[in-house]
Amino acid sequence: MRIGSLKLESNLFLSPLAGYTNLPFRLVVREIGGVGLCTTDLVNARSLLEKKPKALKLIETRPADSPLAVQLFGSVPGEMRDAAIYLESIGVASIDINMGCPVRKVCNVGGGSAMMTELDKTAALVRGMVAAVKIPVTAKMRLGWDDENLTAPDLARALENAGVAAIFVHGRTREQGFGGTVNLAGIRKVVEAVKTVPVIGNGDIITPQAAKKMFDETGCAGASIGRGAFYNPWIFRHTQHFLAGGQLLPEPAFAERVRVMCRHLDLMIEVFGEELGCRMFRKVAPWYAKRFGPCHEFNKRVVQISTRAEFHDVLENYICWRQQFLDGNGELLPRFQPAPMVASFMREPAAIQREKIPVPKGPVEVW
Ligand SMILES: Cc1cc2nc3c(=O)[nH]c(=O)nc-3n(C[C@H](O)[C@H](O)[C@H](O)COP(=O)(O)O)c2cc1C
Repeated sequence: MRIGSLKLESNLFLSPLAGYTNLPFRLVVREIGGVGLCTTDLVNARSLLEKKPKALKLIETRPADSPLAVQLFGSVPGEMRDAAIYLESIGVASIDINMGCPVRKVCNVGGGSAMMTELDKTAALVRGMVAAVKIPVTAKMRLGWDDENLTAPDLARALENAGVAAIFVHGRTREQGFGGTVNLAGIRKVVEAVKTVPVIGNGDIITPQAAKKMFDETGCAGASIGRGAFYNPWIFRHTQHFLAGGQLLPEPAFAERVRVMCRHLDLMIEVFGEELGCRMFRKVAPWYAKRFGPCHEFNKRVVQISTRAEFHDVLENYICWRQQFLDGNGELLPRFQPAPMVASFMREPAAIQREKIPVPKGPVEVW
């Protein structure tokens, strides 16, 4: 798969999840494999130009975290252009522009989803960025502001003319937030609206089968996965395998999930220091635990950890407690096994209401 001049080894992408897609998580996903390009959390272009420590932390990277796209948001053309030039100068592989963020703080200043409502202005901003750098500039959007304004196909066409190298589209409107079904037909319209630029479909891909349906029904060139990777950082490798040969790899065993979770914590401590890393991990560990079977004993205690030693203590106690749910081979008894995951667009409508993918808490509760 190619995005402009950038050649990728896979057409699967890690979507930006503000508060989560930090360096440790990206490294975890890359170590497991199957992902072509990872994107950072959204970064304010002005804060980056002002070298604000928070913005610089968001773009922290290392050679193993490559190729990396940085997602920018902002609506001032000069700032977006200069931020792009800066990112190119420090070796970032690609720049993504946030046009989908529904948060008021971002939209009120003309960024995020608000960009979808002003085609000409947005195309001019993009043109300025594309002309200033050699690396690819991409855009990430929703289907539109609301059902009456499904502007994504028009915007995609305008952006293709302005020179974007790829378009990521989350198959929901801004008004939908994260509710309801991802609209695959809506993504297809974006695919059909452009001439050559690759369109990458996004939204609720939580299984390899869902990724296949995204490709089959939209004709997209790539698939981007956000929360599904949080549930399951193996999703890229498993999806690549499934798309290549039609066979599903077995779900990772408990021991493998624990190994990766511990590696994730080690990386959090390396990057953020022990205290902050452990505090941040309090909201990460319960995502791994979602596939552990009964896990309240773990979740209750892991949200209090402040040191690596405390984490390992919680984990050891949990492993002992969990024994009661296992059979003689150490497997979860069938009645304690977590239900299989099913994407919104693969379920009956009534089930969608019951089983929405949770939206993680954090600085982005309003996403
Ligand atoms: C907690 C959270 C943070 C997000 N942060 C961003 C962001 O920084 N930039 C962005 O373009 N989209 C962001 N999104 C949207 C995701 O990238 C993605 O489009 C959406 O979650 C649908 O894909 P998924 O179902 O695979 O998660 C965020 C979503 C969530 C749940």
